[in-house]
Amino acid sequence: MLTNEIRDRLQRHGQERVLRFWDRLDDEACGTLGAQLATIDFELMDRLIEKWIRNTPSAERFNAIDPVPLIPEADLSRPDAREACAAGEDALRQGRVGLILVAGGQGTRLGFSGPKGSYPIGPISGRSLFAYHAEKIRNLQRRYACTLPWYIMVSAANRAATEAFFREHDYFGLRVQDIRFFQQRMIPCVDDNGAFMLDAPGRLAMNPNGHGGCIPAMVESGITKDARERGVDTLSYFQVDNWAAKVADPFFIGYHVLRGGEMSSKINRRNGPREAVGVHCLCDGEYRVIEYSELDIYPQLLELDAHGKPVYLAGNPAIHILSVPFIERVSHNFREFPWHLAHKKIACIDDAGVRIVPDKPNGYKFETFVFDALRYIPHDPIALEIRRDGEYTPTKQFEGDNSVTAARASMARFWGEWLDEAGVATPRDGQGNVAVDIEISPDFAYSKEEFMDRMKGCTLDINGGISISADGSIEYADNRRA
Ligand code: UD1
Repeated sequence: MLTNEIRDRLQRHGQERVLRFWDRLDDEACGTLGAQLATIDFELMDRLIEKWIRNTPSAERFNAIDPVPLIPEADLSRPDAREACAAGEDALRQGRVGLILVAGGQGTRLGFSGPKGSYPIGPISGRSLFAYHAEKIRNLQRRYACTLPWYIMVSAANRAATEAFFREHDYFGLRVQDIRFFQQRMIPCVDDNGAFMLDAPGRLAMNPNGHGGCIPAMVESGITKDARERGVDTLSYFQVDNWAAKVADPFFIGYHVLRGGEMSSKINRRNGPREAVGVHCLCDGEYRVIEYSELDIYPQLLELDAHGKPVYLAGNPAIHILSVPFIERVSHNFREFPWHLAHKKIACIDDAGVRIVPDKPNGYKFETFVFDALRYIPHDPIALEIRRDGEYTPTKQFEGDNSVTAARASMARFWGEWLDEAGVATPRDGQGNVAVDIEISPDFAYSKEEFMDRMKGCTLDINGGISISADGSIEYADNRRA
């Protein structure tokens, strides 16, 4: 079941110890391990181990790091924004737009065992992150009389569970033929000596190859071909953990299309120098995102202005637009993509076959990042500033910054404003903050204007939480926000 070629390769690359339990494995385990080994790019692993484990590579140095020029938040009072909105709406009506959701990550920080997208983020409805995205898609498809094909990247670690979740929820009312799951590659985890690790006697410890892996995976699994066949040339990219991401924002699409964009980005103002977001900047003139874990290497990115705000204000909410030809072109450069290393706690088995769940980092994971593709754009940066509420409130953990609690508080602020405008008094706390949970299905209304329209003639009296569903039915909850 293990070809001589793979045995030779393991020997040549000094990784034969992964076969130490081979003689004891049953057929199924032999099959699993053999299949994993067949997917490994051993030359790549040698390069990564040599560069990162046997040596410490020196960080890239730049003569100048400049802030990226921004397009101010889109506002219909500005002619450029009106023009962008019209162009984006045209592209949507013409069916030129599709969606890429990256959902292949492991979501370990949230401490939730299912795929992160199945997390019930809705405080009253229990609506999952996937359901929030799907309801936005339903609304936009109706509004623009178009189909938004939804390409969802999963990994070997969560594909089956993700697909099952969609099936159980009847694809959230979307047409099954417009949803395509595609799988990113996995890459072996290595220990401090650069040896592959075993997760079980017959299974390597591997991790998804980072969201940069969506670029080759989209080509290899026929996603770009499918997009072309549908007449889709513009793909709106977002992360599963951000319930608020505008999945296909006409303003953003319009700026991208009008400026001949290949890859464009949204930007949020960083709320401090240590916020856990990447920083968009120009490094010796080349467009880069410096990841938050690498900020100490470039201390100027931590500088504050006279008002105590970051000088390099462009935070990375991880919302992009990529054109289909760009993905196809850059997929050829994927072997040159930089890899990033993370020292992590990796459950594994020791030499005696005993399972170890470490309490401190014991191995390394390699990942690629999609924003490293920005260095290949041939045009000036297209970086559109956005506000947070209603656009960017990611769920990384349960409490604290970027948490479930913070996401729910932002829902209350964001939709509380809509209710205020509709003349519905929302219970407030002593500081004037909305004191109850509020949810409005994005299928029912995806903008304040649409909400006002749909609420004409309705009166609402709320004392506790309220959730308005897609068909306008209302669920009241006897709760107050903590
Ligand atoms: C990420 C960005 C950071 C950005 C922040 C915004 C990276 C390295 N950094 O940080 O610049 O400011 O989001 O919220 O991404 N994913 C895959 N496959 C993988 C790895 C991740 O699909 O192999 C997906 C995850 O499912 C998730 C997204 O990518 O949707 C982000 O991954 P995560 O690990 O949460 O990134 P952050 O460190 O939070």
